[in-house]
Amino acid sequence: MGSPENIKTLIKRTFIVLGIAFAIIIISFVFHVIQINKFNQQERYYTSDTVSMDVTADIHPRGMLTDSWEKNDAFEDMIINGKIYEAVITNNSKCLLSDWQLRVNIKESCWINNAWNGTVEIHQFVDGQEKSQTIDLRDYNIGDISLDYQLAGQDLLIPLNSGDYIIYWPYTGNDSGEVPLKSTNEYSGQAYIGLILYSISGDNDLSDYVMTYHLNQSYFSGTFGTLFLIIIPAWILIMLVFAVIAWIVIGFESTMYYQSQIIDDMFSICSKLADEKDYYHKDHSNRVAKYAKKIAEAMGMDKQDCNVVYYGALLHNIGNYAVPERILGKSSKLTEEDEKIIQVHTMKGAKLVEDVKSMPQASSATLYHHERFDGTGYPTGKKGEEIPLIARIISVADAYDDISRDREYRKKYTLDEMKTFFKEKSGTWYDPFIIDVFLKIIDSIEE
Ligand SMILES: [Fe+2]
Repeated sequence: MGSPENIKTLIKRTFIVLGIAFAIIIISFVFHVIQINKFNQQERYYTSDTVSMDVTADIHPRGMLTDSWEKNDAFEDMIINGKIYEAVITNNSKCLLSDWQLRVNIKESCWINNAWNGTVEIHQFVDGQEKSQTIDLRDYNIGDISLDYQLAGQDLLIPLNSGDYIIYWPYTGNDSGEVPLKSTNEYSGQAYIGLILYSISGDNDLSDYVMTYHLNQSYFSGTFGTLFLIIIPAWILIMLVFAVIAWIVIGFESTMYYQSQIIDDMFSICSKLADEKDYYHKDHSNRVAKYAKKIAEAMGMDKQDCNVVYYGALLHNIGNYAVPERILGKSSKLTEEDEKIIQVHTMKGAKLVEDVKSMPQASSATLYHHERFDGTGYPTGKKGEEIPLIARIISVADAYDDISRDREYRKKYTLDEMKTFFKEKSGTWYDPFIIDVFLKIIDSIEE
C-alpha cells in the first residue's frame, strides 16, 4: 500500500497531465474559433458572372406580362407592360447564409410598382441629385414618399432611369423564413424575392445585379467542430470521474495508511518490550526483523510474505517477559542452568501470540526460532523442513545480529569470520538454502 503522499503525488501528476491536455484542447479551440470568426466576417459578393458553388442568385422574369395600366388614362399615349421578376437565392453551402442583400442596377427606364418578401431601398437620380428611400412597397403612405412618383389610380409607380438602383433586403423576422438562410434542406436553402417592374417595352434586362452576403459557420460544425463537440464534454466527464475516484482513493488510502501505521507502531512497541530487559541486545528484535525481511526478499518471497516474516521477527523474543532480568542482563557467558531458563521464552512467547488470527506464522516464528536444521535445537527438536520456513529465516538473522556485536566474553566477528561461521553451520544449525541466499547479501547488509 503506497503512502497517502505517494497517492497524492500520483493524483497530482494525473491532474497535471489532464490539465495540459485541457490546455491543448482549449488553445486548439481558440484557434479554431478565430478561424471560424475570420470566415464568418468575410464579406462575399455574387454577380451573374460569378461561378460559385456556395450561393447562387438568379433574377428572371416569371409568368405572363401584366397589362394593368395599358388603358389607364394617365398613360394613354403609352403602351405600358409590367413584368414580374423573381429572384431565387439558393444556399448550397454547409453554412448559414446571413446578412444578404441584392443590388439591382437599372439599365432602361421603367417603373417599380411592387416588391415582396422584403424591403427595398430605392436610389433615384433626379437632375443629377440622388434621392433614396427605404420603402415597404406592400405597406406605405403616399404622403411619406420622398421620391418622384406617379399614381395610376391608387397604385404607386416610382420611375427609375438608367443609373438608378434598388437595394433589396429580405425580411429578417423569424416568421418570414428568409433570414437566416439555412442550407440543411432543399426548401429552407432557397429564398424567393419578387419585384414588378413596368416598362414601355416590358423587356427590362435585370441581369446586372450584385449580391453581398456572409456565410456563418457554427463553431461545432465540420470535422474539427464535431471533434470539439465530442472532446470537450468527454474531457469534462473524464475530469469529473477522475476527481471522484481520486477523492475516494485518497480517503481509502489515508485510512489504510493510518491503520498500517498503527500496526507498525504496535509491533514496534512489542519488540521494544521483548528487548527491554536484555541490556546487551537493545533494539535486537528490530534489527533481526530488518535482516529477516532482506533474506525473505532475496529468496524471492512476495511482498505480503516478506511482511509476515518482518512482523514475525519483531515478535520472535516476545516471550522474554518470562525470563528473569538477572539472566537476560547477564554480561558473562550463560550457565547451563541459565540456558534452560532462557529457553522458556520460546514457548511463553508462542503462547502469547497464538491468538493472533491475522498472522498465525507469528506463533511459529516465536516457538521455533531456536530450532536447528539438524534437530539439535530447542524447544521441540524439530529438524529440516519440519521447522517452519519463517523460523529458519529468523534463526539466521538472529545469529547474524548476535555475532556482529561485541559481548563481554568475546569480540564481534569480522565479515570473513561471519562467512566462515555460516558456511560451517550450513546444513547443521541452519538451512543450507537460506545460508546460500544470505551469504550473497551479507556484504550489502554489512554496508
Ligand atoms: Fe530468542
